[in-house]
Amino acid sequence: MQNKGLRSREWFGRKGKDGFIYRAWMKNQGIPDYEFNGKPIIGICNTWSELTPCNAHFRDLAESVKRGILEAGGFPVEFPVMSLGETLMKPTAMLFRNLASMDVEESIRANPLDGVVLLCGCDKTTPSLVMGAASVNLPTIVVSGGPMLTGNHQGNKIGTSDVWRYHDDVRSGKILEEELLTIEAAMCRSQGHCAVMGTASSMACMVESLGLSLPGNAAIPAADSRRKVLAQLSGLRIVEMVKDDLKLSDILTRQAFENAIKVNAAIGGSTNFVIHLLAIAGRIGIDLKLDDFNRLSENIPLIANLQPSGKYFMEDLFYAGGLPAVLKALDGILHRDCITANGQTISENYSRAISYNSDVISTVDSPFNTATGLAILQGNLCEAGAVIKPSAASPHLMQHTGKAVVFENIEDFKTRIDLDDLDVDENSVLVLKNVGPKGYPGMPEVGNMGIPKKLLAKGITDMLRISDGRMSGTGFGTIVLHVSPEAALGGNFAMIKDGDLITLDVPKRLLNVAISPELMAERKKQFIAPAEVTNRGYVKLYIDHVQQAHLGADLDFLRGGSGSSVLRDSH
Ligand code: FES
Repeated sequence: MQNKGLRSREWFGRKGKDGFIYRAWMKNQGIPDYEFNGKPIIGICNTWSELTPCNAHFRDLAESVKRGILEAGGFPVEFPVMSLGETLMKPTAMLFRNLASMDVEESIRANPLDGVVLLCGCDKTTPSLVMGAASVNLPTIVVSGGPMLTGNHQGNKIGTSDVWRYHDDVRSGKILEEELLTIEAAMCRSQGHCAVMGTASSMACMVESLGLSLPGNAAIPAADSRRKVLAQLSGLRIVEMVKDDLKLSDILTRQAFENAIKVNAAIGGSTNFVIHLLAIAGRIGIDLKLDDFNRLSENIPLIANLQPSGKYFMEDLFYAGGLPAVLKALDGILHRDCITANGQTISENYSRAISYNSDVISTVDSPFNTATGLAILQGNLCEAGAVIKPSAASPHLMQHTGKAVVFENIEDFKTRIDLDDLDVDENSVLVLKNVGPKGYPGMPEVGNMGIPKKLLAKGITDMLRISDGRMSGTGFGTIVLHVSPEAALGGNFAMIKDGDLITLDVPKRLLNVAISPELMAERKKQFIAPAEVTNRGYVKLYIDHVQQAHLGADLDFLRGGSGSSVLRDSH
């Protein structure tokens, strides 16, 4: 591409008053004309925030990206967008994923950018940035922040998945509350996002398997100096991508999405992957359906032995060869010719990869777990589908029938779960309603409900749990999530009452409740939708427009894109 064809020339290449204004205010930063005028202008979309601890090192990372951009003859401009910190935001960061994506989309389109580097880390910061960028469709590359170093407490390796275990240990009296203070510090001992195959790691693997990052992006620890090298190389590469006019839509093909689904199944990635990938596909115009996840994941065993499905951590994955070695193990299963951000096909990228530790990265023929990482369920309990992660569930519950113990909302659950007189045993099925996209609102990660205290005391560590909410990617257990339509919409799930018999059959991908059509119709006549929590602001907009989980929970008017043209000229 000739520099005169650059999008940014619409701003800086102008004559007269408009060009004067566009250029003059850049110069107040002490930038000489030749630095930005006529060069590819690369935006660095930064989710740095001290309120997003997983991304708190991103100012540093951006400096490495800038070095690469300058080295390649581009001009870097860093800009902030809304950052979504998983641990601190209430009621849930997911409520704001679509808002952040709007910020990203409009920030990119409105400004004189030729290409974009997305700095992503904590769970929602990856999908929100990719969704927003996809709706603009400029040349774009992703740099992930990298996982934390593996935690270590009293000689034991620990990570985020242990939070749930320690929480139950405190409830059952195995450890004291005070001990948690030491464990907290031991677990989060370096910069970076969660160190297990939780949602952030799954998202980093997603962008790499989609081809949106340089090879190796997913697993390099945040604290490893090679993370900065990858950031610098990504800066260098985005300038080339602008020159080659390699846009997001060139990379995000249907085959690339299919690759990402297969990889997620093989690594035991987060169930949240489903919802985010559907939303990204919706933005770039790929007709992805929930059924595609079943069809594509079906025969893929778990080959990466990582928590929460296995025992290792992201740091171990990096030392074992990183995601390229996983991709290499899936050669023959993946679409080999998908083009990636570095201009090479995905198979060219992984062709020289090696698994250095077969206990961490095994093979399809000899996997460490034959259970796949993801299954989509259908049945009269979930007319539009639901999700389970068999690889992190209990084999004895994969075919199970039990009586429902129903909680109408999260407050009801918290009030009653540990009551001595709660009518529950290990065969019961815990049902949590009204934690879906509209009902909560925002679909929080509360689906991995704690086991009732009295069952913990009996040594029960898992039971079937079902909700219309989500679960942290670091969570585990026999947990059915994303029931659609959610309870707040008055579908069949909303009609379940205490004592109804629920049957889960994962091999057959079925989830049913024994309520006759007549009784179901009768109960639906009595249904009263829960009151909306607000009638103003973004949350009101969200409640009115959010789609159901099986469509990716995007806002209905955000599907698709508007390209990179600005609506009107200014000045
Ligand atoms: Fe940020 Fe887990 S809390 S990735």
